[in-house]
Amino acid sequence: MNITVCIGSGCHVKGSRGIINILQGYIAENEAKIEIKLKACFCQGHCTEGVVVKFNEEIVTNITKDNIIDELEKRLDI
Ligand code: FES
Repeated sequence: MNITVCIGSGCHVKGSRGIINILQGYIAENEAKIEIKLKACFCQGHCTEGVVVKFNEEIVTNITKDNIIDELEKRLDI
């Protein structure tokens, strides 16, 4: 799975750096069973609904450090 976290200014203010840190930790812990490519991107045009994260091509808004892992695991076959 490709995960892309928006690091545009709107999402940065809402905590995209923290989301990336959590994802990096999750990937490190689970790299034996899942393959995730983590990337960053600039503004996706949903700044008022940040943090914006793309799971493959699916854009998901209102991601926080409290829901990122749930949103990820919903989309993984584990
Ligand atoms: S800054 Fe993330 S959608 Fe605009």
